[in-house]
Amino acid sequence: MSDKAILEYGGKRYEFPVIKGTEDELAIDIKALRAETGMVTIDPGYKNTGSCESAVTFLDGEKGILRYRGYSIEELAEKADFLEVAYLLIFGELPNKAQLAKFHNDIKEESQVDEEMKKILDGFPKSAHPMGVLSSLTSALVAFNPTSVDVSSETAMYNSIVRILAKFPVLVAWTLRKKKGLPLDYGDDSLGYVENIHKMMFKRPNQDYKKDPIAIDALDKLLILHADHEQNCSTSTVRIVGSSHAGLFASLSAGISALWGPLHGGANQAVLEMLEAIEADGGDTKKYMAKAKDKDDPFRLMGFGHRVYKNFDPRAKIIKKAADDVLGNLGIQDPILDIAKGLEKEALEDPYFVDRKLYPNVDFYSGIIYRALGIPTEMFTVMFALGRLPGWIAQWREMRLRKEPIGRPRQVYIGENLRSFVPLEKR
Ligand code: SDX
Repeated sequence: MSDKAILEYGGKRYEFPVIKGTEDELAIDIKALRAETGMVTIDPGYKNTGSCESAVTFLDGEKGILRYRGYSIEELAEKADFLEVAYLLIFGELPNKAQLAKFHNDIKEESQVDEEMKKILDGFPKSAHPMGVLSSLTSALVAFNPTSVDVSSETAMYNSIVRILAKFPVLVAWTLRKKKGLPLDYGDDSLGYVENIHKMMFKRPNQDYKKDPIAIDALDKLLILHADHEQNCSTSTVRIVGSSHAGLFASLSAGISALWGPLHGGANQAVLEMLEAIEADGGDTKKYMAKAKDKDDPFRLMGFGHRVYKNFDPRAKIIKKAADDVLGNLGIQDPILDIAKGLEKEALEDPYFVDRKLYPNVDFYSGIIYRALGIPTEMFTVMFALGRLPGWIAQWREMRLRKEPIGRPRQVYIGENLRSFVPLEKR
């Protein structure tokens, strides 16, 4: 097959290189398109446009494949822990024992958050959405860690990475505890990374922390499943903000805001609200299926559909099974899970969904587990952000180390042609 793509327009013939990735994906390299043809491409939502070459995560939407640095999500979810996966995504290889221990110790060294940050948190009303609080606190961290990442120094980059991996879980826990009116707790360096997160989130001030292996294992698996997903909306945001050489924390703050949207990470909260509405409505799933298919109704079946997966989202399969396991192990009977399974069954038999290749995505079942773990619905997307943090870091680091140019898309102007100014008295 030729490694060139031909474009013919206006009686002229242009050739552009075709590049092939390590999984045989093909792309037309149009870096010279405007210089050679005077034209640009247009592709709202970038459905057909690659923004970069990346070695972090591989997706195959048709086959329902997801791999982090070449390892399948199924193996990682089964055999790895979240801190190992974070190291793998960021540095490209699974850590050996010494590397993992050093990584965790370096993170523990950075796990204090300046007490002044509590004043910023205090400024928010309890009713504030946790994603808005978290985005603000992450941006505020820059004020207390002013060194913007000097990417030319691996040490400076590493220090910034362990700093945010240490402090972000504290901010997540503080955001939850603020909402619950609980004192803002610090972690316990004797615990594992995810165990410590669970303690910071759930330790009650008047009780000793009781380890809950089922909950911690479920949380660890969910964080792994959310850890990266190539060039999704929030990751692309982190990359484009970082491409202006804004610091890592500022770029992450922007990513949190992008993830907040209900079409993206905010869908896990919207799914639970949808399932609760269906339950309150007597479990009438057919009514909501009809609404989802009605073009005049803005309602969408939240947790269904995906820009890339036109097959099952592999994460949804793993989370669906985990939901059964966790609720079973915790002895929880949640009617919401039965409603979700009923909705999935109906949708997978409905031509509207089948024709559009709409399957459950990562957000469809995750909230059912978060709820079983005692996490409030409004915190679901915060948990998504906590999981996605190492992926955002990995992608940001790759973008900077590869010296990618500042992101600046072109457009096709469709406004007014040149016209003269009209003085106020004549308008
Ligand atoms: C995440 O990109 C990532 O990787 C994201 C993510 C990650 O890990 O980072 O996987 C996380 O964001 C998962 C997606 C969570 N969002 C939702 O669950 C919200 C509901 N889903 C949709 O809004 C939608 O499916 C998107 C946003 C996920 C994808 O939208 P696309 O690719 O732009 O597809 P589209 O809106 O053009 O839809 C194509 C057709 C349309 O119908 P027609 O105009 O062809 O008749 O499918 C319909 C849509 O109306 N459709 C739905 C639907 N999703 C798409 N109809 C009803 N319910 C839905 N959920």
